[in-house]
Amino acid sequence: MSLKPFLLFIHLKAFFDFASCSCLLLRIWVANFISVVRKKMVSAAKMHSFEEVANHNKIKDCWVIISGKVYDVTPFIDEHPGGGEVLLSATAKDATNDFEDIGHSDVARGLMEKYYIGEIDSTTVPDNRTYIPPQQAPFNPNAKASEFLIKILQFLMPLLILGLAVTFRQYTKNE
Ligand code: HEM
Repeated sequence: MSLKPFLLFIHLKAFFDFASCSCLLLRIWVANFISVVRKKMVSAAKMHSFEEVANHNKIKDCWVIISGKVYDVTPFIDEHPGGGEVLLSATAKDATNDFEDIGHSDVARGLMEKYYIGEIDSTTVPDNRTYIPPQQAPFNPNAKASEFLIKILQFLMPLLILGLAVTFRQYTKNE
């Protein structure tokens, strides 16, 4: 019996094993390469302070902060389907929640890249979570008293007018 087909099979198998193994290694290498490039790009991205970004809060100069990234949406402000005013109201703050609450589509998320200009320096973003209690008017007992007086007058005035009308009628009848 000839060994040739068997040897051919072994060679082919070895070749395909080698090819798939190299393919896997190549894929791992490419993935690593991409992640390194991405990290380098992020660290090379321009850092903006919150104060700097907050100053761009006009129709002709509008920057927003979404998920730690800064976008110059000035060229987009007239085209934004949600309106320009809404973009303006999202300036000078972290607009991440506003943006997410709308439920922007993948198309919108894809568009964002066009307007990306850098990262926000998170240490400069003011913490808005501090609770500010609502302002209460100081207690004024005189105000309570005058309120009570107004209520009484509201009740008595119609009775007074009715009484006067009846007396006038009686008086003119007798004459
Ligand atoms: C770079 C930033 C932004 C881009 C590229 C963008 C893009 C878009 C797009 C394409 C739409 C159409 C609907 C969709 O496809 O999801 C949209 C709708 C809208 N966006 Fe934005 N947007 C941005 C930022 C913001 C921000 C910060 C707000 C603040 C609240 C906002 C509020 C809205 C509103 C209210 C609508 C209308 C939703 C509706 O009518 O259902 N957007 N935006």
